[in-house]
Amino acid sequence: MENEIRDIRHSFEEEMKNVTDAKTTEEMRIKYLGRKGLISGLMGKLPSVNEDERPSAGKELNILKTYIQKELERKKNELLSGEAKKGEKIDVTMPGILPEEGRLHPITKTLNEINDIFVSLGFKIAEGPEIEKEFYNFEALNIPPEHPSRDAFDTFYIKNDVLLRSHTSTVQIRIMEKTQPPIQAIMPGKVYRPDAVDASHSFMFHQVEGLLVDKDVKFSDLKGVLSLFTKRMFGEKTKTRFRPSFFPFTEPSAEVDISCIICRGKGCRVCSHTRWLEILGAGMVNPRVFEAVGYSPNKYTGFAFGMGVERIAMLKYGIDDIRLFFENDVRFLKQF
Ligand code: DAH
Repeated sequence: MENEIRDIRHSFEEEMKNVTDAKTTEEMRIKYLGRKGLISGLMGKLPSVNEDERPSAGKELNILKTYIQKELERKKNELLSGEAKKGEKIDVTMPGILPEEGRLHPITKTLNEINDIFVSLGFKIAEGPEIEKEFYNFEALNIPPEHPSRDAFDTFYIKNDVLLRSHTSTVQIRIMEKTQPPIQAIMPGKVYRPDAVDASHSFMFHQVEGLLVDKDVKFSDLKGVLSLFTKRMFGEKTKTRFRPSFFPFTEPSAEVDISCIICRGKGCRVCSHTRWLEILGAGMVNPRVFEAVGYSPNKYTGFAFGMGVERIAMLKYGIDDIRLFFENDVRFLKQF
């Protein structure tokens, strides 16, 4: 028995020298310690061992079993920590993990661009409240009580006299109430209308309002400023066209078109084959508006304009659905 024990120990030690992975370690465990393994085999033979030798043989066998158990355990840990260390190594050839990069929303980008152009022309940026008194949204802008835009279908009312502004023209009044001419300001911000949401409508969108008031401001000044703006915004080749229109707060009023930036004047679906795209409303400030804020219409003249930022962004970037701006789909937002 003692010889057999020695032989097993010897063969175990020899075999262990070649064990380099977890799989072989497990195979060794089964071979030596398993139910039908070599140690069990010897245990089974113990009863037939000579009575005087049996206690010492049992002891030796137990020592060997514990030794094998410890050795296998040690090997297992050694292999595990070896693998962990391998994992810790820095592989300089591996591509790095790029941090997610944030970027400006296309509306913010477009707004910044519009603001920059006007600031470079000497305009100051001003802001006003989104929750407004009816007076600033309508009365002061010469919009009479029966005007359809005052209807609850066209404006969000909070209570009788308080509403969500439906345009940024409100800020014109707020500035003029507080300041004397000369005034040269643009007023960006959110506006609200209870429109059903579709590809070209949203209950909230952005506008940029413009106002310039001084002595001797003429319609030609308005044309000059807006033509320059459209060229800077849409490219040097962009033509601008003024069409007669009506707004209660300007007289005369105009709707301003740019030559279609998609087909460059050939006619396409975007411009409905008209070759022109409407981008804003404008005009000379109505003397009634000056009266509402206490300016003398005899002393001052001015021009005003208002544009939708979503519309400009859609034209500039070729986006055909306004909802894309508000759905927060990163696949869309990542493109800007
Ligand atoms: N407030 C108008 C709107 O929301 C846009 C507008 C048109 C503003 C003409 C102006 C202007 O200042 O002169 O439809």
